[in-house]
Amino acid sequence: MDYLKIHSTQQLSGEISISGAKNASLPLIAMTILAKKPLTIGNLPDVVDIKTLLKLLTKLGAECEFSHKSVRVDTSSINETKATYDIVKTMRASILVLGPILARFGHCEVSLPGGCAIGQRPIDLHLKALEQMGAHIDIQAGYIQATTPNGLHGCEIIFDKITVTGTANIVMAAALAKGVTTITNAAREPEVVQLCEILAKSGVNIKGIGTAILEIEGTDGALLDIADFDVIPDRIEAGTYLCAGAITKNELTLTHVEPKHLGAVLSKLEEMGSSFTITDDTITIHPAQEIKPVKIVTQEYPAFPTDMQAQFLALATQAEGVSIIEEKLFENRFMHVSELQRMGADITLNGHTATVSGKTELSGTDVMATDLRASSALVLAALVANGETNIHRIYHLDRGYEALEEKLQNIGAKIERLKE
Ligand code: EPZ
Repeated sequence: MDYLKIHSTQQLSGEISISGAKNASLPLIAMTILAKKPLTIGNLPDVVDIKTLLKLLTKLGAECEFSHKSVRVDTSSINETKATYDIVKTMRASILVLGPILARFGHCEVSLPGGCAIGQRPIDLHLKALEQMGAHIDIQAGYIQATTPNGLHGCEIIFDKITVTGTANIVMAAALAKGVTTITNAAREPEVVQLCEILAKSGVNIKGIGTAILEIEGTDGALLDIADFDVIPDRIEAGTYLCAGAITKNELTLTHVEPKHLGAVLSKLEEMGSSFTITDDTITIHPAQEIKPVKIVTQEYPAFPTDMQAQFLALATQAEGVSIIEEKLFENRFMHVSELQRMGADITLNGHTATVSGKTELSGTDVMATDLRASSALVLAALVANGETNIHRIYHLDRGYEALEEKLQNIGAKIERLKE
């Protein structure tokens, strides 16, 4: 297994090019199951989760030709509708194939994704909505067995909770259903918006894109004419590198980024003392030389994203004062705290709220990554910790950050990937 060795890095400078969004790419790849003909998806991040989903599609019989940052997918050859445990267990977002496969083929078996490090992460809302659309769903021996004897039909769906992949799954199922599906309490994340926009360009009549109420008129089984497209930039990768500039107090410029997707993140960094120069597709951070403490509550988009909580918690260890960070979406998304405490951070956990007292000197040591965003928080802490930090189990990081060490080396970080 690989690990990262990071030396304290005071001086960073230059530009970081932001990759395509992992969390947009995954539903968009699943969406190809609804396509009438092959299509190419560009600006794909070269990360493990994308490769996992492409492997799943290939196992189902699709043709996937992955070349540098793009993939050509032909799903006309799909001859299998069972997503097996061996793949689904490595990536719970595999559940995104359920809606499209069911809509296209009328039957689908998907291994239950199970929980993950950050929480139990049920999919009850996905299943309940599909049942409302006419699916018969059984759970047997760890598999979801879904059939639609009379096809999927539109209906009124109200999500008890805002669910990102739940919204994506039902939007894709509704795209081929008979009649109109209304989703109330829909997720408004940019990744869901792009999925809706591509479907709308492919002949699916969708109203309310970007709002909490979506109205989708399905094609009654007709496959979609989907043109080639590029994936939107990864707002969480971008936010992570902005935090790298903030925590090391270095000016950095991000390119190929969509500033409109980072409103809450930029606003919190401004509260902590940074300022920004922003163009259509670049952001330059002018970091605070004295970082102010902050209060953060994670919520659904457009509020502050849970996927940036760990990174801001690392940043808060360098703020002059007490920061309060509340995690409201997941029940166990503070596993980075114990590792940061081992580096010397002064953090108190009380239920879903972390109280961070800064500024604390961090000391480099051996630490362990536990989930994707926790890993990036440890990288940020290591950049300012005294001495060397070794971050183990970085397969978590490789799931969602493309070429992280190269991007950091290019701006002067002393970071190397070694073998255990
Ligand atoms: C997506 O996960 C993202 N993953 C996550 O990013 C992100 O943290 C999360 O949305 C929240 O923004 C992808 O897009 C691939 P949810 P998802 O369904 O869709 C509860 C990363 O780091 N819920 O919006 O699985 C659930 O337990 C990853 O890139 C139900 O109760 O999250 C949670 O409390 C981590 N029943 C809340 O809703 C359901 O059927 C939000 O979950 C579905 C969800």
